[in-house]
Amino acid sequence: MQDTDSQINQATVPRHIAIIMDGNGRWALRQNKARTFGHKAGVNALKQTIESCASYGVDVLTVFAFSSENWLRPKQEVDVLMGLFMLTLKNQANKLHKNNIRLKIIGDRSRFSTALQGKITEVEALTSNNTSMTLVIAANYGGQWDISQALKRLAKHAKETNKSVDDFDINDFLSTAGLPEPDLFIRTGGEQRISNFLLWQIAYSELYFTDVLWPDFDKNELRTAIMSYSTRQRRFGHTSEQISAGAIK
Ligand code: IPE
Ligand code: IPE
Ligand code: MG
Repeated sequence: MQDTDSQINQATVPRHIAIIMDGNGRWALRQNKARTFGHKAGVNALKQTIESCASYGVDVLTVFAFSSENWLRPKQEVDVLMGLFMLTLKNQANKLHKNNIRLKIIGDRSRFSTALQGKITEVEALTSNNTSMTLVIAANYGGQWDISQALKRLAKHAKETNKSVDDFDINDFLSTAGLPEPDLFIRTGGEQRISNFLLWQIAYSELYFTDVLWPDFDKNELRTAIMSYSTRQRRFGHTSEQISAGAIK
């Protein structure tokens, strides 16, 4: 179902939105609650954001759920996050499938429990032929890990096929192979850094930072981000005049 939100011109809706969902811990601490309370609220904000993106006709939504560095947090918090990941996959799989959403998990899943790895494989298989939107969850993901695993696999493939590494495209070996690059990159929670999220892929993404803490991010906040995106002129190295003359279709 397309949303006919009058403030959003469908032509300027980003095809791919990537989000660093940051600020759960501070959101909880502000209410004198445990940080993990914020992570639970964060799942609700994610559910709403998936629905909003689908209603705007976004093709791909990629969210950063757990970084390769987040293992450094207290074990109790990591355990809660892993538990929430499993629970959310279990609870949301059928809904995603019913809404024709394809789920893809990117990141090094070898460090997850066998049960969680099994669940990920199961939900990806269930939703693999869905076509309305792709939801990419980055879990135990690091941009540096992604580039390094891509280069290793590319070199191995070149060797096995007796070809040169120059015959291949790095994009085809990244965990995001086949997906368009993010048009709009959002970080909530006030920090203005990338924290090892997509590095290669955001070369020409429009960056949007907001102080809103992730559990408070809702459709209005998403609309504000998309409105900001729609005012930008993306030049990809061209001049402004070239763009006005239609250099990019
Ligand atoms: C983001 O919120 C969620 C994860 C990193 C898993 P944080 O937990 O980083 O929240 P803050 O930044 O401490 O407020
Ligand atoms: C980035 O947030 C990771 C996720 C949102 C999953 P962090 O809270 O881990 O980032 P830093 O440590 O503040 O840079
Ligand atoms: Mg944080």
